[in-house]
Amino acid sequence: MPNIVVLPGDGIGPEIVDEAIKVLKAADAKFGLDLNYEQDLLGGAAIDAHGVPLADSTLDKCRKADAILMGSVGGPKWDAIEAAKRPEKGLLKLRYELGLYANLRPAILYPQLADASSLKPEIVAGLDILIVRELTGGIYFGEPRGIRVLENGEKQGFNTYVYAEHEIERIARTAFEMAQKRGKKVCSVDKANVLEATVLWREVMERIAPEYPDVELSHMYVDNAAMQLVRAPKQFDVVVTGNMFGDILSDTAAMLTGSIGMLPSASLNQSGAGLYEPVHGSAPDIAGQGIANPLATILSASMMLRYSLNQSAAADAIEAAVGKVLDKGLRTADIYTEGFEKVSCQAMGDAVVAAL
Ligand code: NAD
Ligand code: IPM
Ligand code: MN
Repeated sequence: MPNIVVLPGDGIGPEIVDEAIKVLKAADAKFGLDLNYEQDLLGGAAIDAHGVPLADSTLDKCRKADAILMGSVGGPKWDAIEAAKRPEKGLLKLRYELGLYANLRPAILYPQLADASSLKPEIVAGLDILIVRELTGGIYFGEPRGIRVLENGEKQGFNTYVYAEHEIERIARTAFEMAQKRGKKVCSVDKANVLEATVLWREVMERIAPEYPDVELSHMYVDNAAMQLVRAPKQFDVVVTGNMFGDILSDTAAMLTGSIGMLPSASLNQSGAGLYEPVHGSAPDIAGQGIANPLATILSASMMLRYSLNQSAAADAIEAAVGKVLDKGLRTADIYTEGFEKVSCQAMGDAVVAAL
């Protein structure tokens, strides 16, 4: 019986995770997945209960789990806390401790949502790109880091952008392997005109590329990549990049699909267990109102079935059910355009269950 640790987190986290679990239970009834759920705390919720954003007992459970489903963490209540103890640190520690270096962030435009994108329909129609973000290295984890006091009494904040060859090699392999199953193109995004860490990044990408002769490798500076993503996003197939650039570019890619409420993610390590979470955050501005879009989390649950639990038929069925609900014209507020039916978070979850 596969064991799923469920970490709803903060803000809209509990609302959207409830809907994803509802959908998973419906898929279970249909496909006999036999999933077992164990709920725990992460982020601000864990700080309130235990004084730390990720308790050792929670981390332990996650290590033993077959997969982890997460909502989102953070919010204004904990914004004054120092960086090392914030809700976000719990999530970062979880990713790091489990070695979840490969973060897959697919940006797919459901054709029904062409009008919800802020870009012209012809620019985004048929969009299907995959951002492969390195998740356990780079400036997010580099040492030294901190805020120090200089001799003149002024404070100075500092972080370190580092990548070792083995970290670049393994994320390169993830990107090339993913591209082999898709459009056979990898665009590696860096800032090799300025940052040495990304000069090495580019070198290693070039060195690994010949192992995948059927895949075409190109390189792009991150500033241009940000521009190209909104100018002509369909030129991309797989985009591979470091932790921070991947964070930023995936939010940009999200908007191409109509809303950040549509973007799921999978974070994988070498052993196959994974963490599944929407790309968006805890959306404090709409938390508690029942209007959040649960589809990114529902689609993350579907990625969990596909990548960690080997249940691709159930994953396909959930993705098809999401398509059917959009066909019916149901829209949460973030993807609503005139003429469609505006529904709550819960009603969206119910509709996906019904479509299943
Ligand atoms: P955010 O993604 O939470 O929200 C940005 C905007 O998108 C808001 O207007 C929000 O209402 C909207 N939005 C996000 N998800 C939505 C959904 N499912 N349905 C409808 N609208 C949605 O980003 P932020 O405001 O910069 O951050 C808020 C908090 O979330 C911060 O504490 C931040 O650190 C945290 N955060 C957490 C994660 C995570 O847990 N993985 C990711 C990003 C941000
Ligand atoms: C994300 C988030 C996280 C990140 C934060 C909450 C630590 O923005 O998953 O995209 O920066 O990785
Ligand atoms: Mn982010």
